[in-house]
Parts: sequence; structure tokens; C-alpha cells
Amino acid sequence: MKKGCFITFEGADGCGKTTQSKLVQEYLENFGYEVIWTREPGAKGLGQNIRELLLHYDGEVAPMCEAFLFLADRAQHIEHLIKPAVNAGKIVVCDRHTDSTIAYQGYGRGEDIKQLKYLNSLATGDIKPDLTFVFDVSTEVAQKRVGDEKDRMESAGMEFHKKVRYGYLEIAKQEPDRVKVIDANNGIDKVFEDTKRVLNNFLSSL
Ligand code: TYD
Repeated sequence: MKKGCFITFEGADGCGKTTQSKLVQEYLENFGYEVIWTREPGAKGLGQNIRELLLHYDGEVAPMCEAFLFLADRAQHIEHLIKPAVNAGKIVVCDRHTDSTIAYQGYGRGEDIKQLKYLNSLATGDIKPDLTFVFDVSTEVAQKRVGDEKDRMESAGMEFHKKVRYGYLEIAKQEPDRVKVIDANNGIDKVFEDTKRVLNNFLSSL
């Protein structure tokens, strides 16, 4: 593998993608790959301030303001972390990225998806994940896993989160080569088995 690659982990709040992304990091490192684990929003530096605003600001937030804050974080993240790491031959494992904006601000909040796709491409300079996992879980199970201490996005309600789930499944239908859906209703071990199967296929195609 000359150039590195970029793998994203997506799904509704409570889908278990953070656990899976960390297991994947460990798995890849055991194979000798150099892996950077990162997340959106708020990987480091300025992004952490943006994350604080997005998740904990308790006043009104206009939907497009919310979208632009996620996009601003992404532009910073791509430029200062993702692009340099991929160019240096590393595997970047990223907990949420462009598909979160389409699922949450597009399908969830109802903002124009075509416009959001365009804004995503501006924020990323058209760098796209090579592989994306969507961890799909019923909204009821996911909300139970999140528990009672919810941040601003997690508090958006059951209907909102159902739309987000639907959005992810639509994204996967539209881009089946890049986006792979994993049934995340199962326990951690089974979900990881399914994740590894997809990952191994992907690695053997590099
Ligand atoms: P976080 O605590 O990182 O949640 P999780 O562990 O589920 O990833 O919070 C990120 C929240 O921000 C989550 O509710 C999804 C939301 N989000 C968007 O609405 N749009 C986006 O573009 C991104 C990256 C995240």
C-alpha cells in the first residue's frame, strides 16, 4: 500500500461505532499498519472549541448555522490531520465525517441534501473516504444505549433520530461500493466479526 487510506465510521447516536472503530484500529495495528484514530466534530485544537459549541451551546441554533459549524470543523480536520496522514501512508480511522452531515442536517433537520453535498465537497476539497461503515440499529435500542445524559444533538428526539437512521440507509443504497451497512443490533463481538469481514475484503482489494 503506497498511499494511505481513509475509513469512516457512521451511524446514529448509540449505534456502537466508536467501540468498533477502536477495535478496528487495534486490529489494523496488529497487522503492522500505522493507524490514526480521529473523530468529528472536534478532533483537536480549534475543532474542540467548535465541538463544545455544537454539543453544549444551550441557546437557539439555526439549522444552517449548525451545518456550517460541522463543516468548518471538517475543513480544519481535513487540512491539518486527515490529508497529511493519508499522504504519509497511514490509515485514518475516523469516527463520523461527511455522511453525518447528510444524515443529521439533511435527512434529520430537513436541509437541502444537494446543497449539503456541495458544501461537504468544499469542506473536504473532494477527499472522500475509501470505505465507510454504517452501523445500523433500531432507534429504540440506540436511544436506550445513549441513556439519560444527552447532549444537544442526542436530545433532538425520537422522530429526528428515526429520520437520521433512514438517511444513513439511503446513503448506503446510493453508494453501495463505498458504504457498507453492518447490523449493530447484535452484541459487540458479533458486530466486530461482521465488520472484520468487510474490512478484510477491502484490504485485499488495495
Ligand atoms: P459525539 O458525542 O461525538 O457522538 P457520537 O459518539 O455518537 O459520535 O457527538 C457528535 C454529534 O454530532 C452526534 O449527535 C452526531 C452529530 N453530528 C451531526 O449532526 N453532523 C455532523 O456532520 C457530525 C460530524 C456530527
